[in-house]
Amino acid sequence: NANGAKAGKTRNIVEKMEEEGKNCIIFYGSQTGTAEDYASRLAKEGKSRYGLETMVADLEEFDYDNLDTIPSDKVVMFVLATYGEGEPTDNAVDFYEFIMGEDVNFSEGNDPPLGNLNYVAFGLGNNTYEHYNSMVRNVNKALEKLGAHRIGEAGEGDDGAGTMEEDFLAWKDPMWAALQKKMGLEEREAVYEPIFGIVERDGLTKDSPEVYVGEPNKMHLDGTPKGPFNAHNPYIAPIATSYELFNVKDRNCLHMEIDISGSNLTYQTGDHIAVWPTNPGEEVDRFLDILGLTEKRNKVISVKALEPTAKVPFPTPTTFDAIVRYHMEICAPVSRQFLATLAAFAPDEESKAEMTKLGGDKDYFHEKVNIHHLNIARVLKSVSKGKPWTNVPFSALIEGVTKLQPRYYSISSSSLEQPKMISITAVVESQHLPGREDPFRGVATNYLLALKEKQNGEPNPTPFGLTYEITGPRNRYDGVHVPVHVRHSNFKLPSDPTKPIICIGPGTGVAPFRGFVRERKKQVENGETVGKTILFFGCRKSHEDFLYDKEWQEAKEVLGDKFELVLAFSREGPKKVYVQHRLKERSKEINELLEQKAYFYVCGDAANMAREVNTVLAQILSDERGIPEAKAEEIVKNMRASNQYQEDVWS
Ligand code: FAD
Ligand code: 2AM
Repeated sequence: NANGAKAGKTRNIVEKMEEEGKNCIIFYGSQTGTAEDYASRLAKEGKSRYGLETMVADLEEFDYDNLDTIPSDKVVMFVLATYGEGEPTDNAVDFYEFIMGEDVNFSEGNDPPLGNLNYVAFGLGNNTYEHYNSMVRNVNKALEKLGAHRIGEAGEGDDGAGTMEEDFLAWKDPMWAALQKKMGLEEREAVYEPIFGIVERDGLTKDSPEVYVGEPNKMHLDGTPKGPFNAHNPYIAPIATSYELFNVKDRNCLHMEIDISGSNLTYQTGDHIAVWPTNPGEEVDRFLDILGLTEKRNKVISVKALEPTAKVPFPTPTTFDAIVRYHMEICAPVSRQFLATLAAFAPDEESKAEMTKLGGDKDYFHEKVNIHHLNIARVLKSVSKGKPWTNVPFSALIEGVTKLQPRYYSISSSSLEQPKMISITAVVESQHLPGREDPFRGVATNYLLALKEKQNGEPNPTPFGLTYEITGPRNRYDGVHVPVHVRHSNFKLPSDPTKPIICIGPGTGVAPFRGFVRERKKQVENGETVGKTILFFGCRKSHEDFLYDKEWQEAKEVLGDKFELVLAFSREGPKKVYVQHRLKERSKEINELLEQKAYFYVCGDAANMAREVNTVLAQILSDERGIPEAKAEEIVKNMRASNQYQEDVWS
């Protein structure tokens, strides 16, 4: 186990709290880093404002059968994200299974078992998914049932409505007030105390072999990357080929073939691949510049945790440049609370007042920061009118800026056809926003675009002009590479290939279905019999963003009438035509196929499309079977529960 069972590390949370003198533990279940961030922020605030001895803990790193022995003068906080179809995040799976178990067993056998436990709960969810915030809801219910005492409300943040941050801020103050009362805490003026100490290492340069300059895989330090490759140790994979799929100038969609033959990585059709991006040079420069770190960017530093329970989130010794380029989500939205924290380090009174206002006034923050997609450096620069923020302790940035996260892509190849080559289909994020000179650009997809340009010797930079460290730290990548790992998913073809399948995948939602169709094509070529495959694909215009046009024709040549492509071009006629409209037109056939136990798959946009498809399917069943809509909705629910209806959606 890469995390849990490090030598000499205890999995006993009570022992750990005692050893470290902690009275508040904040567990997080996090997939993309937000829950982990919120946990750190609670820890920080609990310590600085209320004098609590806080500690953040990864749920994966502890056992829970002694939660009942945590004394009642302590508090446990749970910050829990819900992932995908109401699932726990990877690091919370064991905890969830334990706490939801029919007969949970605790060490002491008290009655009620958790009668001594005080807890606080906040959930991170997305209301566009069916099982909204089910993790925090279920865990909260389970804890209550076991007799634990909740302090404050169980909070819920909604990413779907885009209000996660504000939901968190609105929840935490009443929670702190309730906790203060319960534990008799005194509130004090928050003083910033750094968690990390930075020491400049004058004897070392960035070329010294022990200096870590951003290698995404630890073993790359000594030039011998070794598996197992996973979320803690990505594989630096060569990109075999890459090309553009769109036929328009101002939008890009990439097809990339990533070679995993040099690794022990495996995948199955329908899995996800995680891509570890690098920040664009321009944003790295902007960040270092406004913090007054440009001259020191390559200075070697050691970063040490000043708190025994804190972890430095990257290897050291390293450089400011490497930390910012490879480890910080510097382009992401900034939190209002972080701006309030940074106000204390403003270069002048005017900037301080402005930061305090941004941090305190939700509407003002929305109007000035949010709608323009400003990242931290852009905010600092505009607030101080370019004056560098040299008073900001670097520790505050390590604490306050999220760790750079991998991005997930639905694998668009078939593992039967090419077990050691993974393809992705990614649309490049770029949005023109009012009040901004340059377009907002997504981190990972623009990095991939640059890799594609480099690989094909295209004039770089093409339209956007961002520059990246493509050859990797120390110029170690020979050719074009990308750090990746595979995440297994439940989005799978029926094990019986003769079962019919209905696939709904507009836009890049078609990605896994390219894999499905190629898999069935390969099965036929291998002499197997396959069931009917209907693919509903939608895009704007037939000659602009029609993905894999030729490949569908080739599939048709092999699969014949076993394969049908149904198209919805939304911007060709006077009215929008979407995949769900096409689905409705084929009500009779869809119903018949479902009666033959066809599998139904939806991939792509979670916010609107997936939900509308669900509604239309219920209407189809209601009309065709002459049953009330409520009954049809019930059937669709059951189809989901039995995996006959599967979703692979994102927002
Ligand atoms: P990011 O930089 O992460 O930005 C993404 C969005 O975040 C922006 O559009 C914006 O809304 C918001 N944002 C970022 N920064 C700011 C800011 N400063 N202020 C305000 N808002 C901001 N995508 C595909 O193209 N193909 C796929 O097959 C695919 N499969 C996926 C499968 C899964 C399971 C998941 C979870 C996602 C999938 N995605 C897929 C989406 C993909 O993971 C990425 O989210 C997407 O490519 C954007 O990444 P990016 O780094 O380019 O953009
Ligand atoms: P539009 O952009 O013209 O509205 C891939 O993005 C395709 O999905 C596009 O044709 C897009 O159409 C379409 N699309 C947008 N919203 C949708 C929705 N709610 N349901 C289905 N398809 C949608």
